[in-house]
Amino acid sequence: MRMYDIIEKKRDGHELSKAEINFFIKGYTEGEIPDYQVSALLMAIYFQDMTEEERANLTDSMVKSGDQIDLSPISGIKVDKHSTGGVGDTTTLVLAPLVASVGVPVAKMSGRGLGHTGGTVDKLEAVSGFHVEISNDEFIGLVNKNKVAVVGQSGNLTPADKKLYSLRDVTATVNSIPLIASSIMSKKIASGADAIVLDVKTGAGAFMKDLDDARDLANAMVSIGNRVGRNTMAIISDMSQPLGNAIGNALEVKEAIDTLKGKGPDDLTELSLTLGSQMVVLAKKASSIEEAREKLKENISNGKAFEQFKIFLKSQGGDAAIADNPELLPKASYKIELPAKVSGTIEEIIADDIGTAAMLLGAGRATKESEIDLAVGIVLHKKIGDLVEEGESLLTIHANQDSVEEVKEKLYASIAITKNDVKAPTLIYDTVT
Ligand code: URA
Ligand code: CA
Repeated sequence: MRMYDIIEKKRDGHELSKAEINFFIKGYTEGEIPDYQVSALLMAIYFQDMTEEERANLTDSMVKSGDQIDLSPISGIKVDKHSTGGVGDTTTLVLAPLVASVGVPVAKMSGRGLGHTGGTVDKLEAVSGFHVEISNDEFIGLVNKNKVAVVGQSGNLTPADKKLYSLRDVTATVNSIPLIASSIMSKKIASGADAIVLDVKTGAGAFMKDLDDARDLANAMVSIGNRVGRNTMAIISDMSQPLGNAIGNALEVKEAIDTLKGKGPDDLTELSLTLGSQMVVLAKKASSIEEAREKLKENISNGKAFEQFKIFLKSQGGDAAIADNPELLPKASYKIELPAKVSGTIEEIIADDIGTAAMLLGAGRATKESEIDLAVGIVLHKKIGDLVEEGESLLTIHANQDSVEEVKEKLYASIAITKNDVKAPTLIYDTVT
């Protein structure tokens, strides 16, 4: 087999065979095929697309390029959730204990990552003592005992994706549905879940700004998952404005606690129930979405979801007292309000820009080496569609620096207020199965 022929075949719009896809993934991972040939193939894929069969084969090949996590010692159907990313997305912190409380095993592998805030691991580390450096046996033991555990990413997962993603980044081929879908799904599948619920975000703060693109990506990922034997479904949800009110690590832990107690923001609560119901059904702990939703709501009102969160924190060394008293979480030195300059209705809260403001405060990492400040961030008091009076606070900035003029300017620029009526945006656009 020759890489030249594979490039030519895709350039001319033909379907690559499983053997050809395996050849190029294996050759590239092992350093035998050079970047320039893979770049040419990626560009051909960008223009010619891939069939559903090719996408599934590409994903499978990337999964097999490295280690795969074996979750089979955990009893029950392991369901994972993946979000394509947004601003202030606190759902994992809510969902893990919530679905565990109705008996769904949650074996979560999570990273730190770059972005506006830290990843799930960083957020959980805002809880004093909590750690994810546990052995594989300990991890599996904890999920079997308590139904929920989080472990830091380890091992050599999908090395093919790491190499391809870096190459795509410098060859203008990131934005391709077959390449994005196979990249995300390969990582999920290598992490060992039996079933996968995807939260595909759309809107100004999302990777897929446009609803039709989000729908295409959701369909592509669901098709891949099901073809490789993992029951997969997707929700398409709004990320035009940040989810919930809190953006920041400790602030989001507090928001998750409020939500588990039934006192969280409406949008975060609704999205958690929607995704959670799908997870419960895929895990076969309920026979319909309605039944699953009822179970989840019941465990929020009877306190079981909250109790589960405390068990989870304690089992990984965390100080569970923070759940009863979130005042014990890391706190910023300064709380600065942002008063509205005019009266009206909130028309726009550009999620991306709010995220950048949180990052300027130190809530996220710009590079792998950056230190995160777990205490800082932003708490919104208004969301799109809300009325506001001149002088009323739009949000509170939690900062560890006394001067936040640049952040304030950024925030003012990202919030639009109008005299017209504005409806709150749709939260859940679609379900893809
Ligand atoms: N996220 C990924 O993991 N891969 C992509 O290709 C795009 C976003
Ligand atoms: Ca939030």
